[in-house]
Amino acid sequence: MKKKNLVVANWKMNPESAVEAKSIFSSIKKLVSKLKGSDVVVCPPFVFLDLFLKSKNPKNLFLGGQNISSERKGPFTGEVGASMLKSLGTKFVILGHSERRNPNGPNESDEMINKKIRLSLENKITPILCVGERERDKDGTYLEFIKNQLKWSLIGLSKKELLEVIIAYEPVWAIGKSYKESMSPTDIHEMVLFIRKYVGEMFGNGLDHSLPILYGGSVEVENSYQILKIGNVNGFLVGHDSLVPARFGEILKIAEKK
Ligand code: PGA
Repeated sequence: MKKKNLVVANWKMNPESAVEAKSIFSSIKKLVSKLKGSDVVVCPPFVFLDLFLKSKNPKNLFLGGQNISSERKGPFTGEVGASMLKSLGTKFVILGHSERRNPNGPNESDEMINKKIRLSLENKITPILCVGERERDKDGTYLEFIKNQLKWSLIGLSKKELLEVIIAYEPVWAIGKSYKESMSPTDIHEMVLFIRKYVGEMFGNGLDHSLPILYGGSVEVENSYQILKIGNVNGFLVGHDSLVPARFGEILKIAEKK
């Protein structure tokens, strides 16, 4: 049986108020309740998580964090631990997003991301590991870059643990633009094959096909059908279009059909 597609909404640091957040979430809830063939994860800023976890949600709608600390607990002002998310009932967490790996921002290393993956697995929270090159070059150096991200973020995990991880391929240059500047579905397919093959080699044969891979980077209504069809992904990580329920709803309908 074909696995369900997974659509993850990454709200980043939006919207600006709880009132607005509640209104977007309640529209998304209605949209998701009509779906049968796909699961949806909404990842709002931490402060809104509990509001949404307390509401009565459709079975195929889950909540996720956008990050966790690489430490368990203690004197880490401003951080949020994996066990705290677990205690609220959060089922997913985005880890290693490029905005957190940003050298001019939080500058998270693969080593930190590896610790975070382990902590999320320990707490039964599904990690969504983001990888992706900042830029492309003709010599293919970006492929080595992605291999390294995968290698050091996943190192030490058992095969069983790896199967709990969802990989999101997000080329950084394609994030936050319009579908016209996103990656072509054929190039996405190539990268999906590359990632499956590399992770398959890393963990031993036989699992390359079971690895769920999402694509993120300017997924909009206009390109989502082609990305699913030609890109051969298991779903999307959607940023800006996930904050506009009418548009997000169209993406969900596409994920449902394909
Ligand atoms: P975008 O964001 O859809 O706005 O490009 C995707 C992401 O950064 O996860």
